[in-house]
Amino acid sequence: PDLFYVCKSSVKLEKSAALKFDEMYNAAKKDGVTLTPFSGYRSYEEQEIKFNKKVDFFISQGSTQYEAKLKASETVMPAASSEHNTGYAIDIVCEEQDFDTTNEFKWLQENAAEYGFILRYPKDKQNITNYNYEPYHWRYVGVNAAKQIKANNITLEEYLGVSQ
Ligand code: DAL
Ligand code: ZN
Repeated sequence: PDLFYVCKSSVKLEKSAALKFDEMYNAAKKDGVTLTPFSGYRSYEEQEIKFNKKVDFFISQGSTQYEAKLKASETVMPAASSEHNTGYAIDIVCEEQDFDTTNEFKWLQENAAEYGFILRYPKDKQNITNYNYEPYHWRYVGVNAAKQIKANNITLEEYLGVSQ
């Protein structure tokens, strides 16, 4: 991807997503909400390191290599499988499940679609996304798609017609 730093941070996104994120960041700031970028584009190598760290953690807890890989992939995708490898996904503020209790999350739920971002792995759609709830992971899909996805309360899979 053609990568740009967002909001003068060390986090990068693909150019179109980065420009819209900056717009969204500034709009939130005016409302007194700070959408600190936490993790954006990750190279395959960076994703692999992140995944392997999780695997090692579960092995240290007594899992076999196979079990550890399965457990790790519940929260971190293996390299080449992550949206972060495309430059179109960003984790905002933190990677914590209780991010959904914050004003930042509330602001994003109300406004992110205006800037082309969607909550990629919603709590009530885990059977469709086949992925755990991640309140901090927001995906750039463009303004039109984001607005349609929000208005119809659907996932990216349903929007693209690839849900099983
Ligand atoms: N945890 C997200 C989904 C990823 O690693 O891509
Ligand atoms: Zn993420």
